[in-house]
Amino acid sequence: MLIRHPDDILPSEITTPRLYQERRRFMSLAGGMALAGILPAGTAHASPASLGPILKSPLSTSEGQTSFKAVTTYNNYYELGTDKEDPAQNTHRLKTSPWTVRVEGLVNKPRTFGIEEILKLAPLEERIYRMRCVEGWSMVIPWVGIPLATLLKLADPQGSARFVEFVSHYDKATMTRGVLDWPYNEALRLDEARHPLTLLAVGLYGELLPIQNGAPLRLVVPWKYGFKSGKSIVAIRLTEKQPVTAWMKAGPSEYGFYSNVNPEVDHPRWSQATERRIGEFSKRKTLMFNGYADQVASLYSGMDLRRNF
Ligand code: MTE
Repeated sequence: MLIRHPDDILPSEITTPRLYQERRRFMSLAGGMALAGILPAGTAHASPASLGPILKSPLSTSEGQTSFKAVTTYNNYYELGTDKEDPAQNTHRLKTSPWTVRVEGLVNKPRTFGIEEILKLAPLEERIYRMRCVEGWSMVIPWVGIPLATLLKLADPQGSARFVEFVSHYDKATMTRGVLDWPYNEALRLDEARHPLTLLAVGLYGELLPIQNGAPLRLVVPWKYGFKSGKSIVAIRLTEKQPVTAWMKAGPSEYGFYSNVNPEVDHPRWSQATERRIGEFSKRKTLMFNGYADQVASLYSGMDLRRNF
């Protein structure tokens, strides 16, 4: 992003070992209960009443998960502050109830959904995804959500629709002014938006999404840099023309429309060949499409990914 490059953050600065261990204990206890048949089949772990049953997904990675503490206190959510610890401290600036999402533009069935309706559109799934930030750090996060494709299908996109734009909530009275051209917007090509990996997340770690992670509804696109995953979405707009996104406006030479994770295409100010997994000391090699190449590379066949960065 346009601010400091957090290459030198020590895992100990962002992880509370006690909390991490408590969570691991809770998860393994719940996992054991599921195996013993105490929890319903397909339940990943005990889920709070607010989210109901959560199915496991074959699309999850088995890599170690980043601690709940790190996932919820080391955030990029510029509307709530530009330092990593700001969003968790400024959650009072966003009221998430009531909340509606408009699905509009080139669709035959435009509709405004209440967040409660979205929670009931499809069985909730846990998707444990690798997430790679353009700044050079990565996490593994157990999201809870529904495929974006489910919502798009209900809206019945018109034949001319080629892109999907996601607009985040913005309130200038309570949120950051300047920095970006608000509201934050991001966009995908329609086939990327319909891809089975693309998730509308309503929770993480089996709980409702914390505000700093984009409550009540955020996008998750695990093969792209994290900034494509817009938070606190209020509108989903289908368009014929490629939308210009907030980061493209802020730094067109640094943030392209596609923003696929690509170790071979450097950010103009730093290499993208390696990354620091939050909670680990040594760096890892960054994988093409963040390790999701088998599932998504075909979306870009024939494209020059250096030019279409
Ligand atoms: N969405 C909004 N509305 N505002 C933001 O500042 N930051 C993006 C993305 N979505 C951002 C946003 C960036 S740069 C990243 S890396 C991810 O959210 C971070 O998500 P996380 O805090 O849940 O890890």
